[in-house]
Amino acid sequence: MTTVAEHYKNHLAPVYLWMTGGFDAAVSRGESEINAICQNPSSGLSAVDLGAGFGMHSIPLARRGYSVVAIDSSSTLLDALRDHIKTLPIQTVEDDLLAFQKHLITKAHLILCMGDTLTHLPEPQSVEQLFSLVAESLHPDGTFITTFRDYTFPLVGDGRFIPVRSDNDRILTCFLEYSPDYVTVHDVLHERNGSTWQQRVSSYRKLRLSPEWVSTTLQAKGFAVRIESGLAGMVRVVADKRLTSHSRGTGYASPSI
Ligand SMILES: C[S@@+](CC[C@H](N)C(=O)[O-])C[C@H]1O[C@@H](n2cnc3c(N)ncnc32)[C@H](O)[C@@H]1O
Repeated sequence: MTTVAEHYKNHLAPVYLWMTGGFDAAVSRGESEINAICQNPSSGLSAVDLGAGFGMHSIPLARRGYSVVAIDSSSTLLDALRDHIKTLPIQTVEDDLLAFQKHLITKAHLILCMGDTLTHLPEPQSVEQLFSLVAESLHPDGTFITTFRDYTFPLVGDGRFIPVRSDNDRILTCFLEYSPDYVTVHDVLHERNGSTWQQRVSSYRKLRLSPEWVSTTLQAKGFAVRIESGLAGMVRVVADKRLTSHSRGTGYASPSI
């Protein structure tokens, strides 16, 4: 078993863009998701993308006018993002996402933690800590949005072997092994080497977070929360500060999301 950072550095990050179907296709999916959650143009507003990866959501947010701080612990994925920033207002930061506050100069209007990044945190207490930091760092009208996989219902038998992507030269399969609080993810990569195949396996642990626990924990931090369907079978939790009773009527303008 490796740490999440090692798993990405040595195993997943070098094939991550391939795994998602390529940069343009992935950003286009991110754009559809951002368009679904951000209704109006967002010029002048600030956003933080926690676990931004190669910018699947940071790039569409910046195109909508947000100034984006994109934080990730993978230098490989941040390099891929930097290759596409051009003049977009995106600041990339290589750091642990729990340290995001030290990279902000103002409160954010929108904080995202997308694509199952939340389950990569080491323990439920880290998720609670993140939610506290998010609540402190959001503008009074701000919103936190997270998408993650609900691993609370364990897959069984052959269903635990998930074909992720394959082509003539590479096959990525994921095997899930459940324990009470965690799921161990074994990423099995086969790469063609001349006339033979080379297999590499790396494993890391994800949290089994239920949407109800995430929702209740965010409500305890003062958010109004709704649970929706996200991309590719993920759960989307939208947590609004502006709709909670203590922040209602503060006179702040509504953000354009
Ligand atoms: C499944 S990917 C999702 C990437 C992106 N949000 C998306 O939707 O495409 C998880 C990302 O979180 C990053 N990550 C995981 N744990 C992290 C941590 N503690 N601090 C910073 N980045 C982290 C990984 O490097 C990876 O880029």
